[in-house]
Amino acid sequence: MADPKIAEVKDVNRNELVSAHSHIRGLGLDDALEPRETAQGLVGQKAARRAAGIVLKMIKEGKIAGRAVLIGGQPGTGKTAIAMGIAKSLGDETPFTMISGSEIFSLEMSKTEALTQAFRRSIGVRIKEEAEIIEGEVVEIDIEKSQGTFRSPASGAKAGKITLKTTDMETVYELGAKMIESLQKEKIVAGDIITIDKASGRVTKLGTSFGRTSEYDAMGPQTRFVQCPEGEVQKKKEVVHTLNLHEIDVVNSRSQGFLALFSGETGEIKEEIREQINKKVAEWREEGKAEIVPGVLFIDEVHMLDIECFSFLNRALENENAPIIILATNRGITTIRGTNHKSPHGLPIDLLDRLIIIHTKEYTERELMQILEIRCQEEDVEMTEEAKELLTSIGVQTSLRYAIQLITTSALVAKRRKATEVDVEDIRKVYSMFVDVKRSTQYLQEQQDLYLFSEQLAGQGKGMDLESI
Ligand SMILES: Nc1ncnc2c1ncn2[C@@H]1O[C@H](COP(=O)(O)OP(=O)(O)OP(=O)(O)O)[C@@H](O)[C@H]1O
Ligand SMILES: [Mg+2]
Repeated sequence: MADPKIAEVKDVNRNELVSAHSHIRGLGLDDALEPRETAQGLVGQKAARRAAGIVLKMIKEGKIAGRAVLIGGQPGTGKTAIAMGIAKSLGDETPFTMISGSEIFSLEMSKTEALTQAFRRSIGVRIKEEAEIIEGEVVEIDIEKSQGTFRSPASGAKAGKITLKTTDMETVYELGAKMIESLQKEKIVAGDIITIDKASGRVTKLGTSFGRTSEYDAMGPQTRFVQCPEGEVQKKKEVVHTLNLHEIDVVNSRSQGFLALFSGETGEIKEEIREQINKKVAEWREEGKAEIVPGVLFIDEVHMLDIECFSFLNRALENENAPIIILATNRGITTIRGTNHKSPHGLPIDLLDRLIIIHTKEYTERELMQILEIRCQEEDVEMTEEAKELLTSIGVQTSLRYAIQLITTSALVAKRRKATEVDVEDIRKVYSMFVDVKRSTQYLQEQQDLYLFSEQLAGQGKGMDLESI
C-alpha cells in the first residue's frame, strides 16, 4: 500500500464537553497529586480523586496502556465529573474519547464495529514529517495583469515574481495564478516575513520585518515584528501532527473519504484497511517517523453493554496498542446484559478481574453546598445565603442533580419578579413547580387509577391487561 494519506486530516476536535460538567477544569490536585479540598471545579470525593490522579500520572508516563479502571458509585456522586477531570488534565495531544454504553446499540453499525472505532479514536499517532518550505522577507512582489484580447478577455490569469531575502541571500521566484491569489488573500506586502509550504503552496505570514519598524505608525498596533530569517531561503522543516488511528482509517477508506470525519457518518470500515494502516504505522515507528500516543476511552454507563461487548473488551485490552479504558457505572449487583447471571456492577467476573476499581461516596451537606455554589457561579446566578441553605437541604433530601436543576429555574423566576438575586421564595416556588423523583412517585401512587400500564394495578388485576391489547 502507498503511504496512507494524512495531510488532509487537520485537528478534528474532540467532543465538546456536556454543559452539566462545564465547571470542571481538572482533577484539582497539587504537585504531590494530593487532592485539594476544592479546586478546578471539583469538590471533596478525595479518595476517588486521589486514585484518579495516580491513574492520570500513569497515563502521562505511558505506563498503563491496556489497563482499565472502573469508577463505581451511586448516581450523582461525580463519576462522570471525575472522568471529565481526567480528560481536562490530559492536554490536547492525548486523545480522549467518551461514549455511553447505550450508544453503541443505536449507531448504524455492529456493536463491535462501534467499539473498535471508539478504541481506534483513542489511540494517537504522532507523525513527524519533513516539509520543504521557502521562508524569507518579501523584498518585492511584482504582478503583471494580463490585458487580455478581444477573444479572451482578461480572465484574471496573471503572472508575476516575488523576491525573498534572508540575512544571507536573496532569491527571485516566478509566481503562478494560484500563488498570486494566496498572497493577495493573506495581504502579503513588501516587508512581511512569510513561509510558503512547497507541497501545498500554503502561504503563512509570520509578521513584519524589524527593518520596517520606522513605518510603525502606518501599520497600527497589531503589527507583529519578527527577525529576518538567516541562511537559505529554501529549507527543510520538521512538522509534527497528532492524529488518531480512526481518522487515518476513515481518510484512507475509499468508500468513506475525508468529509465523513465531519459528518460523523463513517459507517463500517473494512478490516483490511485497518490491517494495512496498522502495518504502515508499525513501519513508521520503526523508521522513527511516528510514535504511538495511547489515549483514553471513557465508557460511561458501562452496564448497558452486553456479554458480547464485554468479551470484546477483554480481548481488546490485551492488544498491544490498546488505550486506557475508564468505565463508570452506578449499578450494584445486577444481571449481566445478554445473560441470566447476576454479577457486581453487571460486569462479568473475568472483566472485573482486569480492572482497578475506584468508588465514589455520598457527599456531605457541606460538599453539596459547595458544588451548588460552583454551579451558581458557572451559570452566573446570584443567590442569597438563605436560599443556598434551602437549596442544599433540598439537595440532601432529594438529589444533587435535582438541586442543580433548580438553579436555572429559580433564577428565571427571580428575574420575572425583577430581582437580581435568587431568594428563598424563588426556590420554594420552583420546588413546588417541578417535582423530584420521590414526590413524583408518591403522586403516581396516589393517582394510579388514572394511569395506563401501572405495574401494581396490572398485578392486582385492576389495570389494563397488557397481553390483551
Ligand atoms: N465532586 C464534585 N465537584 C463538583 N461537581 C460535581 C462533583 N460531583 C458531581 N458534580 C456535579 O454534579 C452533577 C452530577 O454528577 P455526575 O454526573 O458526575 O454523577 P455520576 O456519578 O456520573 O452519576 P450517574 O451514576 O447518574 O451517572 C454533575 O453536574 C457534576 O458535574
Ligand atoms: Mg454519570
